[in-house]
Amino acid sequence: MTPQLQISTGSAPGKVILLGEHAVVYGEPAIAVPLNSLRATATLTATGHTSEKLVVDAPGIAVHTRLDELAKGHPLAAAIIETMRALNISAAPAGTLRVASALPVAAGLGSSASITIAIARALAAHIATELTDTSAAQIASAVEHLHHGSSSGIDPTVIAHNAAICYSKYKDLQFIRPHASLELVVADSGATGSTREAVNAVRLLHSNDPARYTGIFAEIGALVVSARAPLDAGKHAVLGALLNANHELLQAIGVSTAFLDTLCAAALRAGAYGAKLTGAGTGGCMIALVDAACARNVQQALLAAGAKSASITPLMPTRYE
Ligand code: MEV
Repeated sequence: MTPQLQISTGSAPGKVILLGEHAVVYGEPAIAVPLNSLRATATLTATGHTSEKLVVDAPGIAVHTRLDELAKGHPLAAAIIETMRALNISAAPAGTLRVASALPVAAGLGSSASITIAIARALAAHIATELTDTSAAQIASAVEHLHHGSSSGIDPTVIAHNAAICYSKYKDLQFIRPHASLELVVADSGATGSTREAVNAVRLLHSNDPARYTGIFAEIGALVVSARAPLDAGKHAVLGALLNANHELLQAIGVSTAFLDTLCAAALRAGAYGAKLTGAGTGGCMIALVDAACARNVQQALLAAGAKSASITPLMPTRYE
């Protein structure tokens, strides 16, 4: 009898860090929201032919290779191998794992954690095992440690739970509900920024002058704490000022770029309440806090200033699944 094809899928959103990146690596709190307009998906078509191997097909990054021929450190191989380890899968299924993502790579929107979690969910579905959000986040954190060196775990956590969070490495996870009137424009500078390199550069600065950088991280942490109430209440102007202050502190630790600064200034001129880079920086994306009335103006201004893309997204996430 010919074995039946078995199709299993998984998907995950991207993420935006609203406030607190980099300082979160040093134990300060940070606020992040999922980005459901840009998602990663993984589709496993298992043939059931035990003599066949698993082929990884990711046309977006020109990969069409057998798993056992991909370098072990390749992010897709690492995601599959870490998932197999976590789920006790002893042999990769025969068939094709197709991976697709609408998230720009190395742009601060959580592309690597999103892809890992989509893969983990597809493999869990294949073996009919429930994968909790917490386990999905653990798998993506393990993969992130391989690629980004030491990371805080915020990206895997917000992406796995698909909910707005206040995250701190050493405290219980808090789910939050930003006010429905809050919106963001997310703009891509078009330059890539490596999280590993940015985190390592900040680590070097910190180890050369711990007092100064610990102080900056504490200031960022204080901004995050003072954002909680205005975030609940939808106080745009108060929050905007906090975003601007956070951007200045990110400039002080050297992770902004001249173009990210230009985009932030253009957003503010067009009526945004606040603007900052988001994610690891040194390239990648920036965000502008807007309301419905100024969102289009700000979007147009960012595109006119040279952003590669600019999209409007509500801050109050609706659960996707
Ligand atoms: C990356 O999205 C955020 C950083 O704070 C790194 C991390 O928290 O793992 C730069």
